[in-house]
Amino acid sequence: MIKKLAKSIREYKKLAIITPIFMILEVVMEVLIPYLIANLIDNGINAGNMNVILKVGVYLIICAFMSLLFSVIAGFTASKASCGFAKNLRHDIYYKVQDYSFYNIDKFSSSSIVTRLTTDVSNVQMAFMMLMRMAFRAPFTIIFALIMAFNVNKTISLAFLFIIPVLGFGLILIVKKAHGYFDKVFKTYDKLNNVISENVRGMRVVKSYVREDYEISKFKKVSNEIYKNFTKAEKVIAFNSPLMQSVVYGCILLVSYISAKYIVGGLMTTGELTSLITYSLQILMNLMMLSMLFVMFTIAGSSGKRIVELLDEVPDIKDVDNPVMEVKDGSIKFKDVNFSYAKNKDKLCLKDINLEIKSGECIGIIGGTGSSKSSLVQLIPRLYDVTSGCVMVGNVSVKDYDIKALRDKVAMVLQKNVLFSGTIKENLRWGNENATDEEIEHVCKVAQADGFIKEFPDGYDTYIEQGGSNVSGGQRQRLCIARALLKNPKILILDDSTSAVDTKTDKLIRNSFKNEMKSVTKIIIAQRINSVMDCDRIIVMDNGRIDAFGTHKELLKTNAIYREVYESQTKGVMANE
Ligand SMILES: Nc1ncnc2c1ncn2[C@@H]1O[C@H](COP(=O)(O)OP(=O)(O)OP(=O)(O)O)[C@@H](O)[C@H]1O
Ligand SMILES: [Mg+2]
Repeated sequence: MIKKLAKSIREYKKLAIITPIFMILEVVMEVLIPYLIANLIDNGINAGNMNVILKVGVYLIICAFMSLLFSVIAGFTASKASCGFAKNLRHDIYYKVQDYSFYNIDKFSSSSIVTRLTTDVSNVQMAFMMLMRMAFRAPFTIIFALIMAFNVNKTISLAFLFIIPVLGFGLILIVKKAHGYFDKVFKTYDKLNNVISENVRGMRVVKSYVREDYEISKFKKVSNEIYKNFTKAEKVIAFNSPLMQSVVYGCILLVSYISAKYIVGGLMTTGELTSLITYSLQILMNLMMLSMLFVMFTIAGSSGKRIVELLDEVPDIKDVDNPVMEVKDGSIKFKDVNFSYAKNKDKLCLKDINLEIKSGECIGIIGGTGSSKSSLVQLIPRLYDVTSGCVMVGNVSVKDYDIKALRDKVAMVLQKNVLFSGTIKENLRWGNENATDEEIEHVCKVAQADGFIKEFPDGYDTYIEQGGSNVSGGQRQRLCIARALLKNPKILILDDSTSAVDTKTDKLIRNSFKNEMKSVTKIIIAQRINSVMDCDRIIVMDNGRIDAFGTHKELLKTNAIYREVYESQTKGVMANE
């Protein structure tokens, strides 16, 4: 894990190495100070020698100043290296996530990816900074101070050697226990982010259904879960402090007690006692630092594991060697296709699908909700890979294409379509970066969007808010269709993309498709029978299977489901009229 994470240090390696060096220099200065003070007391103050006092005083000032300087430099380099490391790490994760297929994203869930990119990276960044500053500083101080203390008085210094193993043992117990709780805390963070992002995104729905109370209670539940797990973890960690302090004070008492005896016996000077106490404080303070470092690493360990999971995830949809770069035509073939989602591996969502669609045909798909209409068409631009069987476009398996080449030619307006913040023009250019203004206007006319865009005061430069919240549902759908058309695709898939458009405009869109895009294979998923009635052929989906495939007239005669849907919808219209 550490090796994987360390890869992101890159250009900050030098700073990461320099920091501990400065830290060690600081330690040397700090350890020299008590030695000098002992000297000052014994040879200067007690002996009444002004020369020594002045000389040692100057040394002391130099040491203190140098120690401060080194500490500032190390603080600066450590911050820079750790921030840089976090930047690189975020960058690496983000790049990796861009390669994820829908399958990979389903596996982690998007809110978990967000938590890992933010909270987890911050935890690792903190740990890295502590590592550079403390991981060397603390042991070095302990070792140097021990050496100096032994120099002053061997017997008393032996006391330290007893404390260290006791502390070490206590720490290991604490860390082991807390680790599991922190793992849990981060998992609940994912849940919390999920609840928040869902709520904020769906705020309008929440409000219109007056579900605020329900959402608040949902939030409270997750928030409480974090609180409980955190408290449990912190309770264990809380033992750290009393353990440390009792050991520290016990040790100081012991040192003072023995030293007092020595001084009374004339075996030790007051200066030596002062320096011994300072050394023991230094040793114990740094042991405390080390224990905090352990705690920090426990937290960062959980976070690091979660980050490495993202970095290690293998995108399941990858380009093959020597991919086919050109989609010849818009014909589509499904051969014995079965498909299931990652989260629900045992349940086949599509069963025994066999289909042949000719280039340029207009195909309608109809079927109840959850009958796997969206799942079926998502296999065509290879948003998901089939579980078994084969999907072919232009007589070549979709797996043999260069993914970009395939998706450029298979434009799909997703059921859950989104617009991004930016102007209308910028949004449409997602379809084709180099599209001219005329091309943009043309596709908007085909998608029946030109009219309402021109009515906006800023026309095509109108700014779309995040998620397209300042355009109506029907307008958003038409903009999404225009964006797909701009790709100049050979296959165009509309997944319930005109559901919010009025029936008249819906018909105008279909008419312009017919006239302007004769050679493009069009697949239209709809709930309204009117939207698919005049397609060349219509697929009726039922529970993951193709129930029937034929023209409107054929299906009316032969297919019970189709007839039922037709009758219920047309009757409804008649009753309304
Ligand atoms: N990302 C996913 N992960 C797991 N299961 C999924 C996923 N997407 C859809 N499903 C499941 O697959 C089945 C078919 O869903 P699908 O979205 O294809 O239906 P649909 O016919 O498009 O429905 P609708 O008309 O409501 O859009 C459903 O049972 C659904 O719960
Ligand atoms: Mg669907």
